[in-house]
Amino acid sequence: MENDITHDDSDRSLQLIFPTVIDRYMIPNADRVNRGLVEALVALRRETPNARLDGYSSDVYTTFGVEDRLYERADFAPIGDWMRECFAAHAVRMDYALSPQGVRLTECWVNVYEKGFAHELHTHPNNILSGVYYVKAPVGCSELRFHAPHAFSMMQQRKRVDSELNLLSHAVQPREGEFIIFNSAVKHNVPPNAVDAERIIIAANALL
Ligand SMILES: [Fe+2]
Repeated sequence: MENDITHDDSDRSLQLIFPTVIDRYMIPNADRVNRGLVEALVALRRETPNARLDGYSSDVYTTFGVEDRLYERADFAPIGDWMRECFAAHAVRMDYALSPQGVRLTECWVNVYEKGFAHELHTHPNNILSGVYYVKAPVGCSELRFHAPHAFSMMQQRKRVDSELNLLSHAVQPREGEFIIFNSAVKHNVPPNAVDAERIIIAANALL
């Protein structure tokens, strides 16, 4: 029997579902804010040894687990407040319902990437939103790379060309003064920092 089933593009529809939303905010007066934060970080690093755990494969200076409620410190409270505002604006844009308590930062900490330092692929469990603020993002520093949920399967098809439809990861090149918000379940990593200058971030996780 002959197969007479044919189609052309007018017979098909293509739907994009479950978008991975990356929401980027630029702080007003970034230079002035970051000068103040760099001063605050000098004091913080003087009194806070690297909290990186033994066996932790990522090379960073971090305050995670030791000094991870930075919004409670007077010198970091303003950036904490601004992060909360950004998370709230993002929640509105996403049509999320806020709890009566509003945005609660669960953790807020510092990571410093020297040359060659990277961060393994990870998510932030037990949170709704995560965000990264860039105090120092020197030219050529490593990007923040996001990964599709279906990128981690045993089989991957070879591609003729990269396109929006077959993308498995996407890199965002950060700018100083920028806060990048995403769903806490989105896998992300930081490749090795290629430049001599430090790449300094303040990260935060939030519940709504
Ligand atoms: Fe992260």
